[in-house]
Amino acid sequence: MTTNTVISGDALEELKKLKAGTVQAVIADPPYYNVLEDEAWDTQWKTPAEYLEWCDAWVAESIRVLRDDGLCFIFGQLGKREHAFIHLMSRLSQQHQFHDLIIWDRAVGYNERRDSFTPQYEMILVLRKGDEVKFKKDAVRIPYDAATIETYLKDRRYKDPAARRAHLEKGKFATNILRVPSLKGASKEKCGHPSQKPIDLIEKLVACSTDEGDLVLDPFLGSGTTAVAAQRLNRQWIGIERDERYIAITQERLKTDLQAEQDHLLASAAQN
Ligand SMILES: C[S@@+](CC[C@H](N)C(=O)[O-])C[C@H]1O[C@@H](n2cnc3c(N)ncnc32)[C@H](O)[C@@H]1O
Repeated sequence: MTTNTVISGDALEELKKLKAGTVQAVIADPPYYNVLEDEAWDTQWKTPAEYLEWCDAWVAESIRVLRDDGLCFIFGQLGKREHAFIHLMSRLSQQHQFHDLIIWDRAVGYNERRDSFTPQYEMILVLRKGDEVKFKKDAVRIPYDAATIETYLKDRRYKDPAARRAHLEKGKFATNILRVPSLKGASKEKCGHPSQKPIDLIEKLVACSTDEGDLVLDPFLGSGTTAVAAQRLNRQWIGIERDERYIAITQERLKTDLQAEQDHLLASAAQN
C-alpha cells in the first residue's frame, strides 16, 4: 500500500480498496449534512436517512481498515436546525464500540443566533475497534502558566522541589474538552477551505493515538490538515479527497511546511 499520498476519488469506493487492519488511526471530518449550506459537498443527500446510511457504510469500512488497537475519530457539527450528527452518534455507537466523545472548544463563538446561545464547539465521536487501544496520555499535555507553577511549588508536602518543578513543567493531562482556537479569516494557516481544521487540533489527535511510523488515514482530507500534521509528527498517512482543487492545496501545503521545517533546522544548525 502506498503511503504519504492523496488518493483522488470517492471515500467509500477508495476505502474498500485498502487492506484490513493496517491503519492505526482514522481521522474523519466528513460532510456534516446541510450545515454548510453553500457547499455542494455538504448538501448532496435528499434526506437525513440517506446521509446516515452513507455514513454507516464509510464508517464500517474505516473500522475494517483499523488495527485492533486503533481509534476512529469522527467530527460532527450541528446546524441551526440540522441535527443529523446526534442521530449519527447514537447509531454508530450501537454498531461499533463507543470510546469517547471529545468536545472541540473553538474558543470563540460562530454563526450568531437570535433565539439561542452562540455555538462554540464541535464534537468528535471516538470509536474503537478492540477492547485495548493505543492511547498516549503523555503525548498531549496542557502547560501550566508560570504563576500556577510557582503557587504549586509552595505546597510543603513535596520534599523534592526540583522533581516537583520538572513534573509541573510537563503540564497536566488534557481533558476531553480540547480548547484550540478555530482559524480566523486573517490566520496565516488559512488556505481557502471552508471547514479547514487547525493543525494544532489534528496534531493532538494524531499524537495521542499513534506512534512515529504508524499509519493515519483521513478519508475526507479537504485541504490536507491531517497530512500536514502526520508529516510534522513523522507518521505515515493516506488521504482521500475527491475535489481536485483541495488536492492541489494539500500538495502545496505539504511542500511549504516541509520547506519551513528544513529552513528552521538549517537556521538552528547555523546558530550552534
Ligand atoms: C469537512 S471537509 C474536510 C476538511 C479538512 N478536515 C481540512 O482541514 O481541510 C470534508 C471534505 O470531504 C470532501 N468530500 C465530500 N464527499 C466526499 C466523498 N464522497 N469522497 C471524498 N471526499 C469527499 C469534500 O470535498 C471536503 O473537502
